[in-house]
Amino acid sequence: DKAGHKHFMAKEIAEQPTVIGEAVRHYLTQDGTGVKLPGADLDFTKVDRLTMVACGTAFYACLTAKYWFEQLAGIPVEVDIASEFRYREPPISKGTVALFVSQSGETADTLAALRYCEGKADKILSVVNVAESSIARESDIALPILAGTEIGVASTKAFTCQLTVLLMLALKAAQDRGAIKATKCTDLLSKLRALPSVLNETLDCESQLEDTARKLAEAKDILFLGRGLMYPLALEGALKLKEISYIHAEAYASGELKHGPIALIDKHVPVVVLAPKDALFEKSISNMQEVMARNGKVLLITDKPGAKEGGDGVWQTVVLPEIDPVLSPILYAIPAQLLAYHTAVAKGTDVDQPRNLAKSVTVE
Ligand code: M6R
Repeated sequence: DKAGHKHFMAKEIAEQPTVIGEAVRHYLTQDGTGVKLPGADLDFTKVDRLTMVACGTAFYACLTAKYWFEQLAGIPVEVDIASEFRYREPPISKGTVALFVSQSGETADTLAALRYCEGKADKILSVVNVAESSIARESDIALPILAGTEIGVASTKAFTCQLTVLLMLALKAAQDRGAIKATKCTDLLSKLRALPSVLNETLDCESQLEDTARKLAEAKDILFLGRGLMYPLALEGALKLKEISYIHAEAYASGELKHGPIALIDKHVPVVVLAPKDALFEKSISNMQEVMARNGKVLLITDKPGAKEGGDGVWQTVVLPEIDPVLSPILYAIPAQLLAYHTAVAKGTDVDQPRNLAKSVTVE
């Protein structure tokens, strides 16, 4: 049932405020000042290292979470693609928690990576959507993301629910380790609680993106740029676009631009710049100007202060609500998804069942 939407993907994008709200409620303590893991016993005090492993979009959720675990909780994090991790046979030191992220819970490479860690890691954690999946069953602790069934092959609500649960887990780790001030933690948790209404507001940017997507549909190559927490999101935006519109898209950390990719820039290559007005904004904008100086067409996705300061001369600007930088990846995922969706619709591709792809990759 598409609930009045043209595609399951559109329905699942629209469901995000609701399902994220449910995920936040599930992991929030009653007084709203802490994180609880219902039915699980986990203490991050003695954790030396976190190893996170996944594929595709779930891998990008892990890359995002690395910033959170390192910056909020001070835990060193390693993130790897499951198909690389499993055959590299990396040493797993004592004090390591291994964390596997998977929507389906059945991805063959992720499951094999989990089995490799059995008996080596101190604890095996998973963040899954399908609670009765193999990955959930074989973990010491399985944390559900509560996104509900996701039918569109391109992951949307599962990604933002993974981000939500991983952020809450990072906050729990930060609290366990005394790495975060109580007031700061309560503030972030209350912003998480308020997130559904900000996400609803964000979904209103759809009409702005629809027009832009029609123009993007004519491009042969598209670049995505981001710094810090926006870098993994740039990767996710490019993946989403490739999957359903079949347009070649690549993402780079903005600072890498001048180490090679800048050679690709000309007036035919749209460049999507994800840049809320955060601590790295000035750096992102100076990279963006390097693109514009070479006639690149910039689509800037930012907030009001960002548009005011950096919007001069750009091809298109999408203005989102202002948000605490820590929570920004969850919000900025929405325009990335909508951009891919409307570009695919403009191209007339099979949005929910893109060619050559399966929802669950149970063979390697
Ligand atoms: O079920 P999983 O989360 O383990 O799946 C991992 C990837 O196959 C998946 O995220 C894939 O990249 C999606 N099609 C992305 O939209």
